[in-house]
Amino acid sequence: MHVLGGTASIPLAEKISRELGNAPFGIPFKKRFPDGELYVRVEGDLAGETVVLVQSTRTDEDLVELLLLEEAVREAGAGRSVVVIPYFGYARQDRRFLAGEPLSARALCRHVELDADTLVTVDLHSAETLRHFTKPAFEASGIVALSRRLHERPVDLLVSPDKGGIERTRRMAALLDRPWFALQKKRIDSEHVELRLPATGALPVAGRHVVLLDDVIATGGTIVEAARLLKREGAGTVAAACTHGIFLRDAFERIKAVTDEVYATDTLANPAETASVAPDIAEILRREIRS
Ligand code: R5P
Repeated sequence: MHVLGGTASIPLAEKISRELGNAPFGIPFKKRFPDGELYVRVEGDLAGETVVLVQSTRTDEDLVELLLLEEAVREAGAGRSVVVIPYFGYARQDRRFLAGEPLSARALCRHVELDADTLVTVDLHSAETLRHFTKPAFEASGIVALSRRLHERPVDLLVSPDKGGIERTRRMAALLDRPWFALQKKRIDSEHVELRLPATGALPVAGRHVVLLDDVIATGGTIVEAARLLKREGAGTVAAACTHGIFLRDAFERIKAVTDEVYATDTLANPAETASVAPDIAEILRREIRS
């Protein structure tokens, strides 16, 4: 098995190769043409090999790089092409709110699978998205990686900032053997939300060590409001944890100002990176890809 790290995921790809018993690891050559277009080249003899290409698609540029690398791996004669997308961009646009909108998550699934035999990703915004792939596709869990890390600190209670996070919060609560509940979130616009305690089912937070769990932190609007609410309710400490740390602009500083700790995995390079999904991705690769 050969592991290649695209620009968005080099350190994680290297960790995955180590987890696979130091599988051969490479970084494709990349440059820009004068007009700004991307040029990539994979090096080494990949003919007949199982190639694991790791590239998060946080930006459109990352996505173009991934598509070019997939084509290059195919052309190099790889026996099997496994595409690992630790952070799958556009996955949050998985519903049509207005007529005329695309299902962006589905559009991306269709395109990234064209030159792949198998796909692996981590904590999609909605598990439904996996069904848009027609090739074998697997989802590793950032929740497991975060739980390994959170085991090292006191945790009394887990809180999801919204209904959409119930399943993942329930899962972490089971791994840590702690209670949980979900807040009620109303999105005002892409940067602002309103949060309330639920009418029923809220647990007392006063004096408790609370972990707020989300799949993605982007503007930080959700976590900042949720942490403020929990602190107003008297929480002893509030830790913020997420699988995918985008942390746009000053989001990390704003979150640090209202929480006691911030945890994120390494699906994206970020300032809160404290848990690695490499063992979980490697386990899927070992289990599903026999060669
Ligand atoms: C939304 O449904 C997601 O689970 C996250 O809560 C959201 O994407 C976080 O975004 P932001 O940090 O911009 O509030």
